Amino acid sequence: MQYRELGRTGWKVSEVSFGAWAIGGAWGQVDDGESMAALRRAVELGVNFIDTADVYGDGRSERLVGQICKENKDRIYVATKAGRRLKIQTPKGYNRKKLTEFVEQSLENLGVETIDLLQLHCPPMQVYYMPEVFGILDDFVKEGKLRYYGVSVEKVEEALKAIEFPNVQSVQIIFNMFRHRPAELLFEQAKKRKVGILARVPLASGMLTGKLKADSTFASDDHRDFNRHGEAFDRGETFSGVDYDIGLKAVEELKAICPDGMSMVQFALRWILMFDAVTCAIPGAKRPSQADENFAASDMPAISEETMAKIGSIYDKYIRELVHHYW
Ligand SMILES: NC(=O)c1ccc[n+]([C@@H]2O[C@H](COP(=O)([O-])OP(=O)(O)OC[C@H]3O[C@@H](n4cnc5c(N)ncnc54)[C@H](OP(=O)(O)O)[C@@H]3O)[C@@H](O)[C@H]2O)c1
Repeated sequence: MQYRELGRTGWKVSEVSFGAWAIGGAWGQVDDGESMAALRRAVELGVNFIDTADVYGDGRSERLVGQICKENKDRIYVATKAGRRLKIQTPKGYNRKKLTEFVEQSLENLGVETIDLLQLHCPPMQVYYMPEVFGILDDFVKEGKLRYYGVSVEKVEEALKAIEFPNVQSVQIIFNMFRHRPAELLFEQAKKRKVGILARVPLASGMLTGKLKADSTFASDDHRDFNRHGEAFDRGETFSGVDYDIGLKAVEELKAICPDGMSMVQFALRWILMFDAVTCAIPGAKRPSQADENFAASDMPAISEETMAKIGSIYDKYIRELVHHYW
């Protein structure tokens, strides 16, 4: 496992880290024993950074993450999120009372006195024009509730606005073989300001693993069933906002250029690591075998310029029109 610096925090975090949404909920049935085994395997493989959120299984994910941290004497950094507990997403909801409530609940779930990194969880765009919200987060840092804070965004424009606030340490954004736009302007700006980039949905919700078929089905409590068209939350979070059948076609072409010795999963993750503005990719893993495959990507050889160009052409051919101007 290789490590990269996260923003100005001084932390060196695993460049492939653990995304803990699936072990909380909204991805069909999960077993806590298996989830803990996946987390333990990740830590054995050198993972020292985990992304979770208060709403993943209503605290279930945070509690599992808290447990793995307690089991380990080595430092594991935890990023969680606040804001999605608001029943209706309005900028006014991002007030001191509500944010305090959310932070207190996360502290309890994680079993810690200070949260390492708190991210605003895809708030409405208007929140990035409310310096008072960032002032509240600064106060939480002074009070010792948080070490640092950052944002998780849907759109590049939100990220560009958020990093104008001087204490934002990280931006979490969808970045994968099906989502190239963050690399255009955001990465350059983030590097200039020393803001970390957490690349989420790195496997396009499993699509980029190459295992999905036209007739694959998902449980009714899996967002790949109930949020295909953005029925429950931003449609970009499910299969990266790409039409399922077109995604399958693009993956077939990606498979044909996957370098020898790499699985499709590793190819997808290694592509993300080719961008030095990225601090880490945070693939979800539900079981130890997925952890084994995902975290080995860090030690895979770089992708050649020729193959990078071919990936760009596949994106242009199938994906660009579907996603590029939306997020
Ligand atoms: N708004 C936000 O802030 C936000 C939104 C989305 C995600 N995130 C964060 O980003 C993380 C990653 O995104 P994601 O979980 O949505 O999507 P992802 O990492 O692109 O896909 C994860 C899913 O792919 C499958 N998978 C993973 N490794 C595999 C392997 N080696 N072989 C085969 N299948 C594999 C698993 O599901 P199956 O086995 O069921 O196929 C897994 O749940 C999340 O866990 C969360 O921490 C944040």
